[in-house]
Amino acid sequence: MPLHKRDAMNGKRILLIIGGGIAAYKACELVRLIRKQGAEVTCVLTDGGAHFVTAMTLAALSENPVHTTLWDLKNEVEMGHIQLSRQADLIVVCPATADLMARMAAGIADDLATTLLLATDKPVMAVPAMNVRMWQHAATMRNVATLRSSGVTVLDPDDGMMACGEYGPGRLPEPDAVLAAIASHLDSQRAKGPLTGKHILITAGPTHEPIDPVRYIANRSSGKQGFAIAAAAAQAGAKVTLVAGPVNLPTPPGVTRIDVETARQMSAAVDAALPADIAIMVAAVADWRSAGEANQKIKKDGSGHVPPLELVENPDILASLCKSARRPPLVIGFAAETNDVLAHAKAKLARKGADWIVANDVATHKMGGEINALHIVSATGIESLGEMSKDAAAVALVQRIADVLA
Ligand code: C5P
Repeated sequence: MPLHKRDAMNGKRILLIIGGGIAAYKACELVRLIRKQGAEVTCVLTDGGAHFVTAMTLAALSENPVHTTLWDLKNEVEMGHIQLSRQADLIVVCPATADLMARMAAGIADDLATTLLLATDKPVMAVPAMNVRMWQHAATMRNVATLRSSGVTVLDPDDGMMACGEYGPGRLPEPDAVLAAIASHLDSQRAKGPLTGKHILITAGPTHEPIDPVRYIANRSSGKQGFAIAAAAAQAGAKVTLVAGPVNLPTPPGVTRIDVETARQMSAAVDAALPADIAIMVAAVADWRSAGEANQKIKKDGSGHVPPLELVENPDILASLCKSARRPPLVIGFAAETNDVLAHAKAKLARKGADWIVANDVATHKMGGEINALHIVSATGIESLGEMSKDAAAVALVQRIADVLA
């Protein structure tokens, strides 16, 4: 299966350490390429690196503060170098000079870069660039072997003409090739599990349906259950697309998130994300929207006259997906009910054409809370999962999905 860089990199965090060599200029292009794949980059510039590129360039390209010294009190208070070394999914040293690799191999921590490299518990990749004789020197070869045996991924430099006029191995690989190595490294770290190779499309949260530029129709959905399912599915190895209504939640690791506001936008985002192997429609989509969205704020005129609010029906995303030619093989709907929960869920199963309806009683477990009790209603019967946290309910549901796929 070809590697899709964006799938492997989207939402990932790279700590990029830029050593002092002429190839440092290529690190600027690398920052741009990494960000194009949806990953975040934080740069650490060594003293040597700062002779070749500026912190300003890297800050502008990464849109993040650039760290340069161990002795910055403000940075230390706000972040701390230990935390900085642990926050990334991958640390990339590019260019890795002979000197930097020697200090890494010896465990020296005499500046910010080497201190981070010694303190980190995250994978490290080094991209060497140096003069051919320096690369081929026994000391460098020993250091590279030490780094490799201690788990650092050291890429091989390219062959070719060097900035110093000599020819041979030692050139920094082109930024595209470094990007491909980063993507493949992150892909190999991706959770492998029972849903590896499956694309799961999830909707979550409420929708907001505008009445005028300042008012909208909404509901109490927090998005927590849908986000927890997205996290559990990614953890089980799936490629996850999460179409999220307006919620205040962080994107779970490894999940591709598409933010929408209205039901019609959600419907379009679901269409655009197909094909999928499994769809889980958790969103509390507003059934109705205002018939005519005013383009100016509707004013109270003091006469006591109440403006009419005429509603029209929104598209039913789940029902249309079930009827569509691109229907995923397994479609799961949700039903938040306040009464006759199971009866409503059974009726909904038939009406929507879904394979399962996952019902929950929002009279007992209020929307927006932390606890849920899910009932999986399908043609073969009803399974009640019992009361548990939304995270645990998500893991249990994903396990049921993995069981039927197996
Ligand atoms: O009809 P009801 O809103 O109760 O159905 C709930 C299920 O249908 C949920 O899975 C929800 O995400 C989905 N739904 C939808 N589009 C709508 C209304 C509900 O996809 N317009």
